[in-house]
Amino acid sequence: MYRNIVVLTGAGISAESGIRTFRDQDGLWEQHHIEDVATPEGYAKDIALVERFYNNRWTQLHSGEVCENLAHIALAKLEAEFEGNLLVITQNVDDLHERAGSRRLLHMHGELSKGRCPKSLQTFILREPFGPENCCTCCIPAMRLRPHIVWFGEMPFGMDRIHDALDRCDLFIAIGTSGTVYPAAGFVDSANHHGAQTVEVNLVAPDRHSQFQYHFTGKAGDIMPQLVDNILQGKTIGSESISS
Ligand code: OAD
Repeated sequence: MYRNIVVLTGAGISAESGIRTFRDQDGLWEQHHIEDVATPEGYAKDIALVERFYNNRWTQLHSGEVCENLAHIALAKLEAEFEGNLLVITQNVDDLHERAGSRRLLHMHGELSKGRCPKSLQTFILREPFGPENCCTCCIPAMRLRPHIVWFGEMPFGMDRIHDALDRCDLFIAIGTSGTVYPAAGFVDSANHHGAQTVEVNLVAPDRHSQFQYHFTGKAGDIMPQLVDNILQGKTIGSESISS
């Protein structure tokens, strides 16, 4: 029976909802240079290019064509029914966890649905895509909102809360993340160090360097419903096999 669970999600959990990952075949980083669209320097050089990159993704998210999938729904069920502590940390900037009903959620890389005043750092819900007219209401003169996204070279959000949760978790589950971007890639080490069971759910089998103790290979939407049901029934990982 677990008491403190931390879940880390990455782009793979939203793949079955039709949102492209970054590093898989056809991933976003195959068609865009990270330094152009995901760094403060890229934004300073060409605001319109960066806004177009995030606006395309914002438009997809608000098109009515994407919705939460079984893996997001399973995590929302875990939050609703688990009697211990749970924190879902997502690297994703979409809002599919919220749409499924998750509330104990931390967007460590920011949120596509928000813009941020570069001066006051206040965030605003984006009712329309970015553009010169999309400005803050906190400054005079009003400032052009920047994407509320953590770019390379910037500090992710909520690191103190994340480290507190990792220090006391007894189960750490990483779902659909390639483990290539720090600090998120180091969370498994931290959880191992504090004696937690560490579990990876990924479409591809782990390599021999994996730090995770347990692996479930397959689609998150196939694996998570049963994994969550097992946890809610008080079973520990390893006592039950899960097939995808
Ligand atoms: P990646 O694109 O690096 O990795 C996606 C992972 O999901 C891969 O390991 C896939 O094997 C796995 N995957 C794909 N489909 C899946 C499915 N249906 N079920 C389970 N697993 C699946 O995405 P992230 O690890 O999230 O940061 O990338 C981390 C960060 O790098 C992102 O937050 C973003 C990016 O640069 C910023 O933009 C700051």
